[in-house]
Amino acid sequence: MSTSCDMLVFGGTGDLALHKLIPALYHLHRDRRLNPDVRILALARQELDRDAYLALAERHCRAQVAQADFQSETWRDFAQRLDYFPLDATQRSEFVRLAHHLGQQDGRIRVHYLATAPRLFRDIASHLESAGLAGQASRIVLEKPIGHSLDSALEINEAIGQVFAESRIYRIDHYLGKETVQNLMALRFANALFEPIWRAGHIEHVQISVSETLGIENRGGYYDQAGAMRDMLQNHLLQLLCLIAMEAPGRFDAKSVRGEKVKVLEALKPITGMDVLDKTVRGQYTAGRIGGHDVPAYYFEKNVDNDSDTETFVAVQAEVDNWRWAGVPFYLRTGKRLAKKSSEIVLTFKPVPHMLFQNGQVNRLVIRLQPEESISLQLMAKAPGKGMQLEPVELDLNLAQAFHQTRRWEAYERLLLDVIEGDSTLFMRRDEVEAAWHWVDPILKGWQEHYRKPRPYPAGSDGPEQAHQLLERKGFRWWQ
Ligand code: BG6
Repeated sequence: MSTSCDMLVFGGTGDLALHKLIPALYHLHRDRRLNPDVRILALARQELDRDAYLALAERHCRAQVAQADFQSETWRDFAQRLDYFPLDATQRSEFVRLAHHLGQQDGRIRVHYLATAPRLFRDIASHLESAGLAGQASRIVLEKPIGHSLDSALEINEAIGQVFAESRIYRIDHYLGKETVQNLMALRFANALFEPIWRAGHIEHVQISVSETLGIENRGGYYDQAGAMRDMLQNHLLQLLCLIAMEAPGRFDAKSVRGEKVKVLEALKPITGMDVLDKTVRGQYTAGRIGGHDVPAYYFEKNVDNDSDTETFVAVQAEVDNWRWAGVPFYLRTGKRLAKKSSEIVLTFKPVPHMLFQNGQVNRLVIRLQPEESISLQLMAKAPGKGMQLEPVELDLNLAQAFHQTRRWEAYERLLLDVIEGDSTLFMRRDEVEAAWHWVDPILKGWQEHYRKPRPYPAGSDGPEQAHQLLERKGFRWWQ
């Protein structure tokens, strides 16, 4: 059971709070993992009273939580922890009001979760400080994206760092809270099998694909300014790349794990000049069909400019310039409104040095993060019958089945508990975020300098043709 604390959710009426944070806290409550004394205070500008907020939160929670896991009685019990406080985060005086509302409680842990636009981070941190709400027992959680460029990320980190010590700042990347993502570390560092071949001499190339069927829902205003590069690649995909490419940390703790990840980010080969055109592909969805429904083109989505050139798809050929990975391409791609929802990492091994059989292929390790969590190793085997007819077969490990799992923990459940317990291993350190921006910034600038409209792709397809060509040039194909 967790430590007790006050959890303040700024942006309490936003998508993130209602779709992810409140349902995650509900699950923690239902599974009796939250200390009975944990209080949750949602804050936002809207003038709602407590009952109106509870009704709003319940409606969303019902929609997000599986039917079998939602019980009205449990909700009523959970709702006793929940309160709402209208607050304009740009006004210092409002935080004084907040401090009065919370009362003085020396030593009690206070988690300030900023589920707001990054432009409010600086104001909120400084107002918390002046209202006496940023003391030693307080922590701050920042949602990605931290800024929209290296400069803005530096500014945010600097401003937050003036108020909170780095050890009390939790920069969340919810991909790190996913069970399978943590399993990547178990796979690599708890099994002797893979380590000797986990390197350039044996691995031909790596693919990291995160595809979504969802569009941008109600987030047009944010997304149109961000695009797939800032929304997904700069954080989630680069974090996955780090876990695949990092060296074994000395210990499984925040300092060692994050230290190894930063080294990977710093070793990423810069993509600059005309390479930006050769090694990256931007796409934008046009009208199409997904799951039997017609969906509109991106530029017809709510709060999106009609002539928007924001990318809803991005593919990049990256390289990690170090001894382990020199020369191995890492292909990253992510997009909205694609044919299926899936996140997969595929390591393709080099062919055997001398092939005895006609139809030999290569070995692949396929790590599926979602929808189902599994790890499978593609091996070549002889098909039954006459002759040496080879076919790929899969050695499959379904993690949910292996552990007789009834319900998968949502990433936010794990991460919220970690914040309450003060464990920052699965959060991004300041230098990690900055190193990621350091690599992404020249690509964003290159896109402006050598302007090209994003490549159109129909909703429900697997992205623009140019993303396939990126691999075909080297004789590879995206794993289907
Ligand atoms: C978020 C992005 O960080 O991750 C969203 O802002 C995206 O645009 C989401 O849809 C994807 O997360 P998941 O866990 O559904 O893969």
